[in-house]
Amino acid sequence: MTTFDDITPKTIEVLRANSAVVGQLDWLFINRDLNGRVRFIVPESVEMSDVCREQVEALYDVLADRIAPHAYPKGSGILYESSREQVCLGVSAFLFGDFTNVWLIDRLATESHWETIADEAPGAPRIVFFSIKGGVGRSTALAASAWTLARQGKRVMVLDLDLESPGLSSALLPPDRQPEYGVADWLVEDLVDNGDAVLDSIYATSDLQTAGSIYLIPAHGGDPGEYVSKLGRAWMPKATHQATLETWANRLNRLVNRLEDMLKPDIILIDSRAGIDEVAAACVTDLGAHAVLLFAIEGQQTWTGYRVLFSHWQQRGVITQIRNRLQLVGGLVPDDERRTEYLTALRGNSFALFEDTYDEVEPGEVSDWSFEEDDDNAPHAPLPIRWNRGWYGLLSLQQRMVQVDESEVNAVYGVLLNFLGRDVGKEHME
Ligand SMILES: Nc1ncnc2c1ncn2[C@@H]1O[C@H](COP(=O)(O)OP(=O)(O)OP(=O)(O)O)[C@@H](O)[C@H]1O
Ligand SMILES: [Mg+2]
Repeated sequence: MTTFDDITPKTIEVLRANSAVVGQLDWLFINRDLNGRVRFIVPESVEMSDVCREQVEALYDVLADRIAPHAYPKGSGILYESSREQVCLGVSAFLFGDFTNVWLIDRLATESHWETIADEAPGAPRIVFFSIKGGVGRSTALAASAWTLARQGKRVMVLDLDLESPGLSSALLPPDRQPEYGVADWLVEDLVDNGDAVLDSIYATSDLQTAGSIYLIPAHGGDPGEYVSKLGRAWMPKATHQATLETWANRLNRLVNRLEDMLKPDIILIDSRAGIDEVAAACVTDLGAHAVLLFAIEGQQTWTGYRVLFSHWQQRGVITQIRNRLQLVGGLVPDDERRTEYLTALRGNSFALFEDTYDEVEPGEVSDWSFEEDDDNAPHAPLPIRWNRGWYGLLSLQQRMVQVDESEVNAVYGVLLNFLGRDVGKEHME
């Protein structure tokens, strides 16, 4: 029996066993469709040559037998195309196994694939707060970071992109300061070219006592309105006047760019959705983040989740592109005698996760890290955030932020704040 996970290894096996046929092709695409069924896409020239066509057909037949029901029936499993460029229009293709002329096209029902890593955005550093699991203190850490950076005189732009379970805005804004609209409104208005109508009303400034300013763009406005109906449309691609589709990740990027032009922040903090989720993918891979903070609490579920992501990035050959921007954060670290043991376990598991990616750094590539397990500056070294009674189960984080003082924030978030100042701030904010 063949199940989904057998498709790749069995296909590689069949292609290797027939390397003479594969080797003579200019290119071959393994097209895995939405239902997880495989077809070949090969050059039209193959169809013209009887010998070549029969060889490829025979090869496909062998594969179809091996991976059924994850292949099209013999006789309908080969598509012919004029050029490689034609095949790749609007899709991402990745080199398959260790072949140099075979690519995989993996068509997903979701728009985001986690595998196209946008270049770092020019302008203010974009810092994404991400975690595999929810409830690990991500939004609270973001609020504390925004507050501290603003105390240092920075203009801080904060985006709540956890649209499905928003909450950050209430942490930083009292109810009477909530703006009229939020991110979801802009995304929906943009579909009918009306984004500008709400752009001026989707942010508010915080009234916390800081030298700089916090500009908060919440998920929804003070009155969420028909939020569920908006949310169901927010992530739509947009039909453009040129009859093409603009991905919603692109639309989101347009929004962030517009806001950045308008508000001129020194730094942009983004509260991402948790988990292996489409919206999270846009935050982590599509927005040109300078740093992606991976929040983790010690436990099997955390590492299984992160491992799934890392192995996907590895398989698609993009791990080195993204890895330079990743930084592990240890959330809710016990504040008692368990602390050392907890942090040691966290660091060990984190190192095990990153270790393979360190091997893939090209020889001679400049790096600041030694990549040893005990290197505190390496991306796997958890930036610990202490569990602290004062931050636990707050009725109102906003009220907490009004009363908080610097030493208290530093005691809990100091290491993270150092990181933000050190690694992100240095080239952009001076
Ligand atoms: N340093 C801390 N010490 C103690 N409790 C904390 C700390 N940080 C956050 N908490 C508490 O943990 C809970 C979850 O925090 P928070 O909402 O920031 O997490 P999150 O990761 O953003 O969650 P979600 O996935 O739901 O968005 C809250 O009750 C919060 O008060
Ligand atoms: Mg949150």
